[in-house]
Amino acid sequence: MATDSTVDDVAIRPATRADLLDISRLETRVFDEPWSYSAFEGFVGEPAFLIAELDGSVVGYVVADWTATYNRDFGHIKDLAVDPAFRGHGLGRSLLQRAVSQLLVEGVRSIKLEVRESNTPARRLYVEEGFEAFRRIPRYYSDGEAALVLVFEPVFG
Ligand SMILES: CC(C)(COP(=O)(O)OP(=O)(O)OC[C@H]1O[C@@H](n2cnc3c(N)ncnc32)[C@H](O)[C@@H]1OP(=O)(O)O)[C@@H](O)C(=O)NCCC(=O)NCCS
Repeated sequence: MATDSTVDDVAIRPATRADLLDISRLETRVFDEPWSYSAFEGFVGEPAFLIAELDGSVVGYVVADWTATYNRDFGHIKDLAVDPAFRGHGLGRSLLQRAVSQLLVEGVRSIKLEVRESNTPARRLYVEEGFEAFRRIPRYYSDGEAALVLVFEPVFG
C-alpha cells in the first residue's frame, strides 16, 4: 500500500478477467480448500462478483450469483474474503452489502450461503447483516467440519 493510502481509498467494483490472478492468489492464501482459477473465471460478468481494490491491488472479493425458479429467484453468496492485512476495517461488510444489494436489484428475494461452523468472524458478520440459521450440514467440508446454511429474506414493504 502506498504510504498515503488507507482503507478509505478502497474502491469496490465488478471483477474483470484482469483481476483473476490476484483473486486466485488471495483465495489460496485465505482458504484451505481454495477455488481454482477457472472456478472464478466462470463468474466474470456476474453482477455480484465484486472486488475491493486499493492502489491497483485486490484486497478482497465476493462472489455471488442467483438461480431463477418458476416463482422465486434465489441468490447465493459463494465466496467472500479479505486480505488478512486489511481485515477489521469494514471491507468484508461492504463487500457483502454490495453483493446483497446487487442481488436484490436483480430481483432476488432470498439469499443463502454456507459457512464453517467454527468461522466466528464470518458468522458474526452474516448475522449482523440479517442472515439467519436455516440448517446444519454435517461433514460438508472435506476435513469433516459441518456447514451452517444461513438465509437472508428481506422484508419488502
Ligand atoms: C470474514 C471476513 C471476510 C471479514 O472481513 P473483514 O473485512 O475483517 O470484516 P469487517 O471489518 O467488515 O467486520 C464486519 C464484522 O465481522 C465480524 N468480525 C470480523 N472480524 C472478526 C473477528 N476477528 N472476530 C469476531 N468477529 C469478527 C464482526 O461482527 C464485524 O463487525 P464489527 O466490526 O462491528 O465488530 C474476513 O475475516 C475473511 O476474509 N475471513 C477469511 C475468509 C472467510 O472466512 N470468508 C467467509 C467464508 S463463508
